[in-house]
Amino acid sequence: MNPLFKEIKGLVDEKINTNMYEKKGDPWSLSFHFMPPGGWLNDPNGVCQYKGIYNLYYQYSPNDVNGGLKYWGHATSDDLVSFKNQGIAIYPDQPYDLHGVYSGSAFIKGDDIHFFYTGNVKHLGNYDYINSGREQNTIHAISKDGGKTIKKIGKIISAYEYPEGFSNHVRDPKVTQIGNVYFLILGARDITNKGKILTYKSRDLYEWEYAGLFLESDIDLGYMWECPDYFRIDNTDVLLICPQGLEKQEFEFQNIYQSGYILGKVDLETFKFKDMQEFMELDKGFDFYAPQTFEDEKGRRILWAWMGLPSDDETISNPTIEFGWQHAMTLPRELSVKGNKLYQTPLPEFEKIRDCKIEKTINVKGKCEFDDLNGAVFEMIIDFENIENEFIFFLREDTSISYSVEEGVLFLKHGKSGYGRNERKVRLNRLSTLQIFSDHSSLEIFINGGEEVMTSRVYPIGNNMKMGFDGRFEANIRKWSIKTER
Ligand code: FRU
Repeated sequence: MNPLFKEIKGLVDEKINTNMYEKKGDPWSLSFHFMPPGGWLNDPNGVCQYKGIYNLYYQYSPNDVNGGLKYWGHATSDDLVSFKNQGIAIYPDQPYDLHGVYSGSAFIKGDDIHFFYTGNVKHLGNYDYINSGREQNTIHAISKDGGKTIKKIGKIISAYEYPEGFSNHVRDPKVTQIGNVYFLILGARDITNKGKILTYKSRDLYEWEYAGLFLESDIDLGYMWECPDYFRIDNTDVLLICPQGLEKQEFEFQNIYQSGYILGKVDLETFKFKDMQEFMELDKGFDFYAPQTFEDEKGRRILWAWMGLPSDDETISNPTIEFGWQHAMTLPRELSVKGNKLYQTPLPEFEKIRDCKIEKTINVKGKCEFDDLNGAVFEMIIDFENIENEFIFFLREDTSISYSVEEGVLFLKHGKSGYGRNERKVRLNRLSTLQIFSDHSSLEIFINGGEEVMTSRVYPIGNNMKMGFDGRFEANIRKWSIKTER
């Protein structure tokens, strides 16, 4: 190893292992969500389970809390609840990835884990870095020890080999297998500013050839699609994409960039995605992007997402930067298809961190507060009955959830503690259940058994954490405090 690189690597490793975020006085570090050991985190990468152990890699800037040079961080878990920091898994140390080891995925074959990621390179000069000046190479790497050490093999598709008509933005490989053929998909922006997905195929994971566009028909959905993911569950083919450039509508596309799915059918001969339904958002909250899924050894399709978004929307901020870290992962969620919708539900593994339980039936007639329900770190399930007109549920300082039967709309609102996050809303045919996971600075609200989800970061300072309701309804409430260490 080059001595200078060895020295720099030593400094980064020391930082990730010792200079953890300043816990003292940090009211917002998370108890039961994965957060970076200092620095900036974005997309989940290479998620997989290998011989019982779950591997979570992630886009990581250890040295820049606002997101600089990207590495792959690594953490492992045997239960999906608690994680062990495994340091840096991939460094940006080659000519083909020197401006960032960008997102990618894992594929297990026999005893090996194969990794595919994007090597980002920016040329010096006066470029727009959209149509010129940037290389996004597709790189293959391999681990022979279950994901602990990863050896780079090299470029499998050079940035100069992508088909004509594409910009420099082609990235985020995800690999799947159909019969004995492997398919790799890449998110892309074409030169007319349309999001597309390229497909490559291989018989051995080493040699890849271009196999056309993944979608059978052309759809107009933004200028760039990041982080594509394809899988099949419940006899349905599912494509996840993160389109950029969609126009805000009253209920849809409120965040700066979107993240959602299209259900359809893959032609197994041609590997073309057809019979496509409309694009639906995965999460209606403020902080959800770049999800990635894998099938675990129990056969479950599990999704993790970045509980954040690129900082291009300057109206939203995260005060955790004061404490040396920014962003976290959502809880891992199990996916299923019901009717024409993708449902997301929390994993049963999280039941084991439930602690003291309060259960009560409430009959709300007007404004009321429940002191025994206060708190910041909890899981709560509310089963509603007989909601008359509308209600509002106050939780955590200046956050509220409200619902109007007549409009069929549920709102999530934050005041100051939202740091720019003000209101999100979702249409519902009915409201039967809310399952809320609240951590020191996050909220995940699973609505009607995972039919809709709203995920948000929120930064209360601990004033008035009282819970209360206003409206007329009956409900059964179960609330658990959560036992984990910070
Ligand atoms: C999505 C994304 C990916 C890219 C990575 C870089 O958040 O922009 O498209 O590979 O982040 O960190």
